[in-house]
Amino acid sequence: MEVKRHFSWRSLVTIAALCLFHVTAGETTLGQTPQMGWNSWNTFKAIINESVIHETARLFGTLGLQKAGYNYVVIDDGWANHSRTADGYLQANVTGFPSGIKALADKVHAQGLKLGIYSDSGILTCDFKPGSWGYEERDAQTFASWGVDYLKYDNCGGFEGMTEASQVRFGTMKNALELSGRKIFYSVCEWGFQFPWRWGGGIGHSYRISGDITASFTNETGCACKTAYCLNTGYAGCSVLTIINKMREISQYGVQGHWLDMDMLEIGVANMTLYQQQTHFTFWSALKSPLIIGADLSRLSNESLAILTNKNIIALNQDSLGKPVSYVETLSEDGLWQVWAGNIESGYVVLLLNEKSYPQTISLQLSNLGLGTPRKIVELWSEKTLKTNAFNGTLQPYQTLVFKIDTA
Ligand code: GAL
Repeated sequence: MEVKRHFSWRSLVTIAALCLFHVTAGETTLGQTPQMGWNSWNTFKAIINESVIHETARLFGTLGLQKAGYNYVVIDDGWANHSRTADGYLQANVTGFPSGIKALADKVHAQGLKLGIYSDSGILTCDFKPGSWGYEERDAQTFASWGVDYLKYDNCGGFEGMTEASQVRFGTMKNALELSGRKIFYSVCEWGFQFPWRWGGGIGHSYRISGDITASFTNETGCACKTAYCLNTGYAGCSVLTIINKMREISQYGVQGHWLDMDMLEIGVANMTLYQQQTHFTFWSALKSPLIIGADLSRLSNESLAILTNKNIIALNQDSLGKPVSYVETLSEDGLWQVWAGNIESGYVVLLLNEKSYPQTISLQLSNLGLGTPRKIVELWSEKTLKTNAFNGTLQPYQTLVFKIDTA
């Protein structure tokens, strides 16, 4: 009898411990909010080296980016040697990364940051370095053994690799990462080719929905696919505005833990006005896209830095509900201004974008969206409180106002 009671007590402790473990494990699940960090591609392309990564990691601290929530430092294409080792392992190119990736990861970790790396689901990367197709488990183990925390996995390097469906190629790496024994954030980069919003949620913590962003707010160099279901014939050159517009069709597919990736930020890279930069950051945040800075941090202007570290807008991106805003067609004027809205933890948020290159005066009733009864309305960029439930005012070219509407 005594033994039995003792056993029951131990069982209770075990169950409690398991519950605790479950909560703890839940807390550390990757991707519960969109990832925030920096990636080398938009500025450095494939000419990247370890000094840039060291300097970037240092600047995360001194510029206040780390404090603002940015924690992944991601090396894009160009880090690897042209060939694998004789026994088939990926290796860093010694010119750019003489100390190797493990040593780099150790340094980045010592600063409380995380290291990301890049590979490809084909035979070659876009920069003609070895891809991971057919080597998924081996490469995932290599990344884990180096202490890598994040993998951006690309879609170039065809040949036999491309005879397999995207789901298979990207899914194989997902499984390999899970087997690697290390928690590695999985950023799927499939350019929206095979409509990953239909399947990417089961595979990546985030997945790209468009061709490569170009360093421009409106001008495009070759964005072949401006809508969600067009057939792609090219992958690069999409402007900030085109990517925003594409999200009108697919924002509803973004769910917590599997974010729609609108591509790396061009703030501090492109020559954009203050309002264009604010709009870029607002939409990436409100649509719960990853916030991955693409600029050279050593040359970032104070204006761009202030936008990238804006607490209100980052809070919108990292909101615990994790719900992207949706396009509100009935309140928008096609081609002139756009209204987007969606729930956040404290109520809801409404975005008003002047899509034109000239100022526009716009009136908007903020309370008839069926998202709750307003208690307080604050415009997040100016931090001004609205006195009524309606907005009536002038927006500058490409400006976006962000109304946070508390209902509780
Ligand atoms: C593209 C990708 C870019 C960048 C580049 C590297 O496919 O979309 O973000 O990673 O490859 O070659």
